[in-house]
Amino acid sequence: MSVKIIAVVSAKGGVGKTSICANLSAGMTRLGHTVLSIDLDPQNSLRLHFGISPMHIEGMAPASLASGEWRESISAGQFGGFVLPFGQINEDERQDFEQLLRDEPDYLRLKIEQLDLPANTVVILDTPPGPSVYLMQALSTANITIIVVLPDAASYSTIPMIISLIKKYCIRRSDFIDYFYLINQIDRSRQLASDVSDVINLEMQGKRLGVIHQDQSIPEGLACNVDVLNYDPNSRGAQDFEKCAQALENIFDAQLSAA
Ligand SMILES: Nc1ncnc2c1ncn2[C@@H]1O[C@H](COP(=O)(O)OP(=O)(O)OP(=O)(O)O)[C@@H](O)[C@H]1O
Ligand SMILES: [Mg+2]
Repeated sequence: MSVKIIAVVSAKGGVGKTSICANLSAGMTRLGHTVLSIDLDPQNSLRLHFGISPMHIEGMAPASLASGEWRESISAGQFGGFVLPFGQINEDERQDFEQLLRDEPDYLRLKIEQLDLPANTVVILDTPPGPSVYLMQALSTANITIIVVLPDAASYSTIPMIISLIKKYCIRRSDFIDYFYLINQIDRSRQLASDVSDVINLEMQGKRLGVIHQDQSIPEGLACNVDVLNYDPNSRGAQDFEKCAQALENIFDAQLSAA
């Protein structure tokens, strides 16, 4: 299998993208892949899910500004996955970095190619919420895009905006496989959530990757710097992420056999 790049995106903030990146990394690692998660969000919080110290300032943004190698900023998490943090930069540096990304729309793609990753690697891109130069770079590079939505009306109403960006940056590329949505924080006991997820499924024409239930093990794991699969393998959240990782694996297999 060639390197596969998955972008995790949403129009709204706080829907669970970063948690999903970290936990999908654990799920895909268990399936035997080398997994590199790249943080494209200046919040720089993905590293915390991999047990990396908050004092750690290295990452791809400072490395890029210093014309350094991204490879040198990659850290191994404690459970097998790898993470490339965004890194710590000041406001002027952030503006310079974003200008660089605007000037070079293929920057992310080229930098990932230069990493010369093993063939079975899955790269997972964490993005900031809403339209940004980071989202544009992620969508221009991804083979698969996962749209994260909550089962509420506000999240539902943002789907057309994200789909229009996917049409602009993904769909016409020959290396783009497909986009899917993932409902996070579902609580089936709430009738409204259940109704809204049915409507989302209609709007997305069945392109559902999976659902992740609301599960306290997910934030508890983060508090211990651990993904939920290693924190509590029997939890609902861990089982949901295992199913999602398997669903991605099935998509890769289907694409391989169609090729
Ligand atoms: N399935 C879940 N069950 C319970 N809590 C969850 C679940 N998913 C995410 N959370 C919690 O929701 C909060 C927001 O999650 P997270 O930071 O991953 O969202 P995000 O989309 O990356 O946010 P941002 O848009 O700011 O980057 C965190 O406290 C996280 O622990
Ligand atoms: Mg985030």
